[in-house]
Amino acid sequence: MTGGGGTVGQLNVIRTVDGVRAAIAGWRRAGETVALIPTMGYLHEGHLALVDHGRRLCQRTVASLFVNPIQFGPTEDLDRYPRDEAGDRNKLQAAGCDLLYAPTVAEMYPPGFATGISVTGVSGGLCGAARPQMFGGVATVVTKLLLQTLPDVAVFGEKDYQQVLVIRRFVRDLDIPVRIEGAPTVREADGLALSSRNSYLTAAERGQAPVLFQTLTEAVGRLQEGGEVGPVLAEARARILAAGFSKLDYLELRDAETLEPLERTDRPGRLLVAAWLGRARLIDNVAVPEGKAQ
Ligand code: PAJ
Repeated sequence: MTGGGGTVGQLNVIRTVDGVRAAIAGWRRAGETVALIPTMGYLHEGHLALVDHGRRLCQRTVASLFVNPIQFGPTEDLDRYPRDEAGDRNKLQAAGCDLLYAPTVAEMYPPGFATGISVTGVSGGLCGAARPQMFGGVATVVTKLLLQTLPDVAVFGEKDYQQVLVIRRFVRDLDIPVRIEGAPTVREADGLALSSRNSYLTAAERGQAPVLFQTLTEAVGRLQEGGEVGPVLAEARARILAAGFSKLDYLELRDAETLEPLERTDRPGRLLVAAWLGRARLIDNVAVPEGKAQ
């Protein structure tokens, strides 16, 4: 296989666009279908569930590992983002993934790179307000990954709910011929959503972190029982701050499809949160079925 240091008995790693295209072209010639699972590495069971999802839909799965500098703001955690390529490679191999595509920054963004994909509407608000550079960076790199690999299916986690909607939007707007699949959030036994950034938590903070999901779940229960949206959300925000989180970027009820604010649970909704615990910015979200709330 071309393009990078694959070793016999280990999952092949490819670092170039030409290399990944050649590998996938071989599968295509054999009539096989391909799923892409984009990641920034430091893989956990949430990422591996996406590989599993891809394997159920396609004959071949490619995971990409690229810590995308352009989706991080100048004061964010790009420099300390956790990395363990050797561990990731082993986990992907054990999960039955066929190929790891791990391009360098220079391969992804050659000298003179000057193009960006920007998505309005669904990118605004929530994480788009708190991290203004993020969705442009995500849209640009995911567009490139899709064009480099031309998969049948690309799988993304609902843990990053707004990200899935942004990706669906530009894929549709740009007529990119790929099916976007959303996969449910994988959680620890105590409800905390798995995240590479959970490694930033101290032991004490790890003990406090499940409050995020517990609070979302309880708030959904109260909305289902007919609780008013404003007071239910206010109480949820207060509980998260009282539990030791230092700052809430947002806790909002939104339309599940458009992410427009919802005043009542008269349509399928999504309750979404982003909050800071120590050095970690944690995000989570849960479905809010139509209910009785006024
Ligand atoms: P990363 O944070 O590494 O996540 C890669 C994929 O794994 C995303 O689709 C994310 O939603 C999914 N994921 C993360 N935690 C999960 C969990 N607990 N359960 C289910 N899925 C989970 O998201 C990114 O990377 C980047 O923005 C990327 C899309 C790769 C573009 O750079």
